[in-house]
Amino acid sequence: MEGLLPNEVLYSQEQIKKRVRELAVQISRDYEGKELIVIGVLKGAFIFMADLIRCLTIPCRVDFVRLASYGAEAVSSGKVVMTKDIETSIKDQEILIVEDVVDTGLTLSFLINWLQERNPRSLKVCAMLDKRQRRQVPFEADYVGFTIEDGFVVGYGLDFNEKARFLPDICVVTE
Ligand code: IMP
Ligand code: MG
Repeated sequence: MEGLLPNEVLYSQEQIKKRVRELAVQISRDYEGKELIVIGVLKGAFIFMADLIRCLTIPCRVDFVRLASYGAEAVSSGKVVMTKDIETSIKDQEILIVEDVVDTGLTLSFLINWLQERNPRSLKVCAMLDKRQRRQVPFEADYVGFTIEDGFVVGYGLDFNEKARFLPDICVVTE
């Protein structure tokens, strides 16, 4: 997108690092003695997930899904499409979904329903960011990095039209 200037840092890499460690401590404690499968939602969650699992003090396996609800727009189309499914059996397993942002809640509601059909023992969600005020369907994540106001953010895996994912900080987009 022309004119995209992700110039205001909302959360710096230092703040993110600290919060990711705190989340990992909490998750490691909650899953102590259990075998965890972490499922990342591509593409946005890949950096957060990579950092998060390296801070865990419990072993885990990983898998990924690819879900798309956004086209080339900053507004959700409201329709969720799965373009890549998990490749692991999750029956009777402890599952933690890792997502970048919960916005309308549509993506995660879809994914939860999709995975529940495979009868995991438990299914929880860890989201880096939560835009609580934007929900269209009720949804509560079990672990949240930061709760943010409405507004579009990029960096730390998050994109706008595939741009700015590589930025190490979480930035607010201004045009
Ligand atoms: P939901 O289905 O509306 O909850 O949308 C969640 C998805 O929208 C996330 O997985 C993100 O990929 C994307 N998204 C929502 N807000 C933002 C944002 O501020 N920046 C980048 N992507 C976002
Ligand atoms: Mg996403």
